[in-house]
Amino acid sequence: MAETDAVLALAVQLAREAGAIQRERYETDLEIDTKSAAIDLVTEVDRACEAHVIEALQRERPGDSILAEEGGGGEVAGASWRWVIDPLDGTTNYAHGYPCFCVSIGAERDGERTVGVVYDPLRDELYEAVRGGGARRNGQPIRVSRETDLSRALLVTGFAYDVRRSERDNLAQFGRALKRARAVRRDGSAALDLCYVACGRFDGYWELSLAAWDVAAGILIVEEAGGTVTNLTGGRVSAPRHEIVASNGGIHQALRRALTDQS
Ligand code: IPD
Ligand code: CA
Ligand code: CA
Repeated sequence: MAETDAVLALAVQLAREAGAIQRERYETDLEIDTKSAAIDLVTEVDRACEAHVIEALQRERPGDSILAEEGGGGEVAGASWRWVIDPLDGTTNYAHGYPCFCVSIGAERDGERTVGVVYDPLRDELYEAVRGGGARRNGQPIRVSRETDLSRALLVTGFAYDVRRSERDNLAQFGRALKRARAVRRDGSAALDLCYVACGRFDGYWELSLAAWDVAAGILIVEEAGGTVTNLTGGRVSAPRHEIVASNGGIHQALRRALTDQS
């Protein structure tokens, strides 16, 4: 337990430090490049945040493995802890000055999600969870919403960067959800979408294609807040796609059925 507490404390510290970098450079003249597609951006701040977190982890916990979106870190043979880092989730928003982004840091112990921290530097909201220990926002326990009727639910989704060329473009699912729920948002930060499900701002969230770093912290935070997380068919969220439905539990079946056109 003491080690889990130390991992949580380090994750919180590094998330706050990376968040401070995001806050300082927000709405400044940024160097912006593209990655897998013309709409897949990476800014100098994504890279600066990742470098900061990885440098500190390699200094403080050299025996741990690290998986990070911009390619830093690496596997350490025999490591029991693995850190999974999205240094800036919501890069498109960040690049456009739309105030919805965060840093997400998850830590797995022997392959099991054990610690999750997400920090939104503009709202100064820090979400954290430890397996079996509940979820908190700025130190206060959080719970998912109690809604059980999909027609009164506020949902959120997202679209992958291959949306222009992929058949799994989420448009059919988006249309079906829009017709059944109260409303559907597209906020642009998967990690914050999950935290908002965890604290009841959203009743449900889904996305068809994500990466490990998008969900490493958020899945644990939703589960520890009493929510349900599966793939579209009700199984485990798994690599490589990390197809995900996360909800308050009360609308989970109805949402999955709506997305898969079984309702
Ligand atoms: C993206 C965001 C977005 C989601 C995309 C992700 P990034 O991550 O979380 O909301 O729809 O699928 O790739 O590129 O901003 O870290
Ligand atoms: Ca991301
Ligand atoms: Ca990112």
